[in-house]
Amino acid sequence: MNFINTLEDLYDMLDLYIQGVDWDCFYMERNKPAPFLKYNKSPDKCVVDFLKGHSIRNACEFGCGEGRNAIYLACNNVAVKACDLSEVAIENAKRNAQESKAGKVTFEAGNLFALDLKDEKYELVIDSGVFHHLPPHRRLQYREIVSDILEEKGYFILVCFSADGGGAEEVDDYDFYKSKQTGAAFTEEKLRRFWGEGFEIIEIRKGEDIAQPQMWESSYTYICLLRKA
Ligand SMILES: C[S@@+](CC[C@H](N)C(=O)[O-])C[C@H]1O[C@@H](n2cnc3c(N)ncnc32)[C@H](O)[C@@H]1O
Repeated sequence: MNFINTLEDLYDMLDLYIQGVDWDCFYMERNKPAPFLKYNKSPDKCVVDFLKGHSIRNACEFGCGEGRNAIYLACNNVAVKACDLSEVAIENAKRNAQESKAGKVTFEAGNLFALDLKDEKYELVIDSGVFHHLPPHRRLQYREIVSDILEEKGYFILVCFSADGGGAEEVDDYDFYKSKQTGAAFTEEKLRRFWGEGFEIIEIRKGEDIAQPQMWESSYTYICLLRKA
């Protein structure tokens, strides 16, 4: 018989009420028009820009997919830990890393909420497309995880759907559980309100449509650079 005894029990129960994406299926079938699949070897422009202006030793990427950002960082002498829920994506990421001879990256398949990260600290955390797929009840826990693994004054790069960008609909948090929506877009105001808690907001800007082998960016996103306060 189910018995909710901890916050994690409650979150696990609420997870059952959301649609979610079958990410293994997504990466196997490859039939969705998702640009990050098409440009799966091109890092985000914001990651390239960040590295031009900052010297960092290590980074952690949540929801790394097929590893495009993690591999770029590793090829630029940053030690990277990268995780993704999808074992298929992680297998592909490992293969891509080998092809790129990116030695300083460790990939791990798993749910970021279940990882044991308590002894780990990073100068940079990257989330390109995970936050907007999290159900509302997981957000606070996520902010805590990001904050906990960042060094003091560590940076957080967040790329997520923007409300008027055409990538996904903004959705009321109560309605999210009744809808079939698998991702939610954010307004700048919501991002500032949520991430302003515990983070300095260095920049939030609308993405542009850039598609090059060296870097990629889309106009349906907000690109955020935050710093642990
Ligand atoms: C929109 S895709 C972006 C992938 C990659 N960051 C990129 O831009 O190429 C979102 C990724 O987040 C992963 N993901 C979603 N929820 C996750 C969770 N709870 N823990 C770890 N990864 C998760 C998915 O498996 C998927 O690969």
